Amino acid sequence: MGTFVNNAWYVAAWGNEVRRELLPRTLLGQQILLYRKENGEAVALVDRCPHKLAPLSLGELKGDSVQCGYHGLTFDCSGTCIRVPGQRNIPTEAQVRAFPVMEKYNAIWVWMGDPEQADTTAIIDVPHYGDPGWGLVDGQYLHFKSNYLNITDNLVDPAHTSYVHKNTIGNAAGEEVGVKVEQSDSHVLAYRWINDAPQVPLVERMGKLAGNVDRWQYYYLHLPSISYVDFGCIPVGTEPTEANKDRGFRSFSFNFLTPETESTTHYFWLHLRNYHPDDPQASDDVARLMNQTFEEDATLLEFIQREQERTGVREYARIAIDNAPLRIRRQIERLQSKEQSAEAAAMDCEAETAIR
Ligand code: FES
Ligand SMILES: [Fe+2]
Repeated sequence: MGTFVNNAWYVAAWGNEVRRELLPRTLLGQQILLYRKENGEAVALVDRCPHKLAPLSLGELKGDSVQCGYHGLTFDCSGTCIRVPGQRNIPTEAQVRAFPVMEKYNAIWVWMGDPEQADTTAIIDVPHYGDPGWGLVDGQYLHFKSNYLNITDNLVDPAHTSYVHKNTIGNAAGEEVGVKVEQSDSHVLAYRWINDAPQVPLVERMGKLAGNVDRWQYYYLHLPSISYVDFGCIPVGTEPTEANKDRGFRSFSFNFLTPETESTTHYFWLHLRNYHPDDPQASDDVARLMNQTFEEDATLLEFIQREQERTGVREYARIAIDNAPLRIRRQIERLQSKEQSAEAAAMDCEAETAIR
């Protein structure tokens, strides 16, 4: 069994990637075709002609429809075949699966599971998005050569920042500070405070605070694979209320993980900050430093993925900071078995109808 959860909204692309042309992309192991209709709405279809399985993305866009490049079968944006050249009748099997699509936060979201369960209100809330007091860096993308669950392990693991990200968001002050964990049905949270400690390099570079600080790291993993990190710092001894945190140095970092295959992942990210919101130099610095940070993770996780594939083992030893990653893996298994039970019930129902 694979590791994917289908019933969820996944970022398939940034909005500006999807245009009036055919864009192929692999999501959760499936070949998907993305394009925009004449009215600008985005469409997601399976990228496979039901005739001889040619990729539809090698065909042509005709108005809002797609014409296969092999023999010209044409499908509208709901995946219904509307033309078979040279004949009047259209076989019932000549149908392509269409996926529910939403556009939000400048991203194209696709629901990969049962369309009946696609709740358009269920896309995660991104606080301060569009707020003029907060600087935004978005449209960012990295390709990770690792299973998405190795990345979710990493994204509820604030402890690794002391070692992997010494040049950006971590320093030695956090090495001995434990991590606390909480969870609900929708997320797992790993967090800690590192008090009266030197600023990390990214904070120092932005020059908003002076001297030692109290620093927080709140790493949320919204199931199945959206990471949301609230991190920042306030002057030593400041009461850690939300208002005081907003007055200090604060960032919200969102990482939208979309599995590509079992060993590769699309990593879309955006970042909101409450310092120098209108300063393009600050935006450039954030983009560069966060890309550097995530590339450090990508390099490490690629080695880990390769070693997992070579040995067939995920870990030989377990330590306290693995609590949150372990909870995520259990929650993923719970979501997968829920999907499998629903599929089995639907198949039983179909079989019963057939023998009546
Ligand atoms: S393979 Fe698409 S029309 Fe024949
Ligand atoms: Fe990291």
